[in-house]
Amino acid sequence: MNEKNIFILGIESSCDDTAASVLHNGKVLSNVIANQSIHEAYGGVVPELASRAHQQNIVPVVDQALKIAGISKSDLSAVAFTKGPGLMGSLLVGTSFAKSLAFGLNIPLIEVNHMQAHILAHFIEKEGYKKPDYPFLAMTISGGHTQIVRVNDAFDMEVIGETIDDAVGEAFDKSGKILGLGYPAGPEIDKRAKLGNPKAFHFTKPKVEGLNFSFSGLKTAILYFIKKQLKENPNFIQEHLNDICASIQYTIVGILMDKLKLAVKETGINRIAIGGGVSANSGVRNALINAEQKHDWKPFIPAFEFTTDNAAMIAIVGHLKYLKSDFASQNTMATARLKL
Ligand code: KG4
Ligand code: ZN
Repeated sequence: MNEKNIFILGIESSCDDTAASVLHNGKVLSNVIANQSIHEAYGGVVPELASRAHQQNIVPVVDQALKIAGISKSDLSAVAFTKGPGLMGSLLVGTSFAKSLAFGLNIPLIEVNHMQAHILAHFIEKEGYKKPDYPFLAMTISGGHTQIVRVNDAFDMEVIGETIDDAVGEAFDKSGKILGLGYPAGPEIDKRAKLGNPKAFHFTKPKVEGLNFSFSGLKTAILYFIKKQLKENPNFIQEHLNDICASIQYTIVGILMDKLKLAVKETGINRIAIGGGVSANSGVRNALINAEQKHDWKPFIPAFEFTTDNAAMIAIVGHLKYLKSDFASQNTMATARLKL
């Protein structure tokens, strides 16, 4: 093993993005993502279609990642892949591909937990970005998850709060569906929220004990509110879309910040790192930046390319596990409900 030159190929296929990335000593050489637009027409990810699209995408995506990195397969030190959590059919494509590639090249195979990867994405070398010192709190907010994690070390993490129903990304996407927006609606709600009044409409925040979250009630409240308004004014959505989006986003960001405040109080840890697709949200980012001044928090906000699903975050976990020789056997299996 040449410890000076570690080239890790990361493969991510847990949901609807097929992604591959090559890291050299923790630095990103390539980060390729093939999005699956096919799901837009269905207003959500269709698992069967996702796995079929992964099968079509995986070879060209890995090929492109190697080409952009300027290396060949034989230069690779190890192959890291997403073992779970995620959609079984989707995970199987990446897992089988990674297993056969590592086997064929006779190099180590490394299994990665997708949620751990969202957190450890903060350790990808990138100019202008600092890495959090341990311990820190990580809030992973995506279309599939909403968790607050106490991170004692790269491989010592404890979930201290999580959603009891919908994920926060689903709250954005389902609200968007009610408003007739495309899928996923998060980015569009964010864009429109910037143009609207966040206090135009009031939505009640759910009351959930401790550090857990709940978003299903909010979705229902929004649905009833919109139905009622439409009865009085059939053009209500079109006439107030930006204000509705701003009010929804304001409520969601408020829910997240309330729980973070409680987590900081309970743990005494003020380093906060965010990850997952929703951490691209400008409301979430601004609230954290403001908290630096207001509450003396130390926020860590990842670069956009490492927030939504990507393979560089899988490769960085691969890199860290490679340094510990933490390798998987060929018997490893995709696991849809993998715990952190
Ligand atoms: O991490 P991710 O790419 O995939 C999952 O593992 O779920 O997250 C996707 C989620 C979607 O729900 C999408 O609407 C949301 O992230 N999202 C956003 C923004 N960008 C992506 N939500 C709010 N504001 C955004 N700017
Ligand atoms: Zn994700």
